[in-house]
Amino acid sequence: MRTIIEPFRIKSVEPLHHNTREERERFLEEASYNLFLIEARHILIDLLTDSGTSAMSTEQWAAVMRGDESYAGSESFFRLKRVVDGLTGFRHMVPAHQGRAAERILFTVMCKPGHVVPSNTHFDTTRANIEFTGARAVDLPIPEAADTQARLDFKGNMDVEALESLIAREGEDKIPLVMLTVTNNSGGGQPVSMGNIAAIHVVCARHGIPLYLDACRFAENAWFIREREPGYADWTPKRIAQKMFSYADGCTFSAKKDAFANIGGLLCTNDDRVFQQETNLLILTEGFPTYGGLAGRDLDAIAVGLEEVLDPDYLQYRIVSTGYLGRHIADHGVPIVEPPGGHAIYIDAARMLPHIPKEQFPGQALAVELYRHAGIRGVEIGTLMFGDAARHELLRLAIPRRVYTQSHIDYVVEAILEVNARKEQIRGMQLVETPPFLRHFSARLRPLAG
Ligand code: F0G
Repeated sequence: MRTIIEPFRIKSVEPLHHNTREERERFLEEASYNLFLIEARHILIDLLTDSGTSAMSTEQWAAVMRGDESYAGSESFFRLKRVVDGLTGFRHMVPAHQGRAAERILFTVMCKPGHVVPSNTHFDTTRANIEFTGARAVDLPIPEAADTQARLDFKGNMDVEALESLIAREGEDKIPLVMLTVTNNSGGGQPVSMGNIAAIHVVCARHGIPLYLDACRFAENAWFIREREPGYADWTPKRIAQKMFSYADGCTFSAKKDAFANIGGLLCTNDDRVFQQETNLLILTEGFPTYGGLAGRDLDAIAVGLEEVLDPDYLQYRIVSTGYLGRHIADHGVPIVEPPGGHAIYIDAARMLPHIPKEQFPGQALAVELYRHAGIRGVEIGTLMFGDAARHELLRLAIPRRVYTQSHIDYVVEAILEVNARKEQIRGMQLVETPPFLRHFSARLRPLAG
């Protein structure tokens, strides 16, 4: 059979509510054209993020009931630890309430002012947590990744030569660790090849610098390796993931992505001394090391999710369905970051709306129009989010895991193509109030007159 189906049936449903264009116009006005400020019940299809928005499985809900809420030494912790050990092989693991908590602890322990931390591309919270310690976060994506239209198999790779020259320039003592984000979220959800992970590992090992994976979407990355990198077609996703982790000295992980959990994170390391320091910090802000800021039931949900996410039927459906959205809009003239990534489609708003300069936030103008037209929420990743540091003007449509069916996605495709058909009429936006920080969560905007 050629049709790839959702590899699950639905046991529990959550109704969606239609509203009218007039109502949406009012919600937009009330929210000052900032989609973060619209109540979720007024959204029809929510593609704001794939983080924490997954549908849990029957096995996960069953595991929730088994959760052991003991303060210390909970059975849930040991169930999770067994799964993480089997998958990653790292010596130590602590839970944290989400990915950024793990990041904060890792960087607080490892970084100090004057340090430099390279990555293929740091996710915003990773960058912010590094810079909060006084260290500098540096992105070293491969140069081809700058072209949104280039169709490379592994566009998330790190530039190995650039890493070598950075180490030569800064000195290895200044680089406490190298991060590698799999898949590369800020770079379009693009995968990193096993060859690249291995090459980065070799460079790091030669200089005695630990390599950490930001492993939020490790399973999606593993599937791309299986599909695209010679030699892996017969491997299970789990074996590929194990090999990816084997090149690293530790990882941070947000269980809100590739563990189908609604909350949670992990921090793993092979370094006994780092682990000791991490544990001390963990106790200060997250909790005792066998729960790390989570309930026992959350740990159990993560343990089950980490195994389910490696099911080949699931991963095939996941990557094919993201590609389905991407191809159906791109092949009808909507410019996207090519090729489609694992968890999201990124519309290149600068290219789609060349009449809107970046100071007028083309990505936000498109986000607002898509909501106004069809009740769909995406997120601007461009000048509104990053100010002058923005490299592109994108609208990200992130796809929650196991939540929407093909007809939901067909509706999204139809809406985007209708908006694209009259894109010349879309007007730019103006900032009414520039908040001093967290611009994209609190910015207030207004549409410019046509
Ligand atoms: N690293 C990457 C690559 C991420 O995408 C995220 C979160 C984090 C770290 C932080 O994890 O949210 O559990 O604290 N990304 C979400 C997103 C928020 O929408 O892309 P967290």
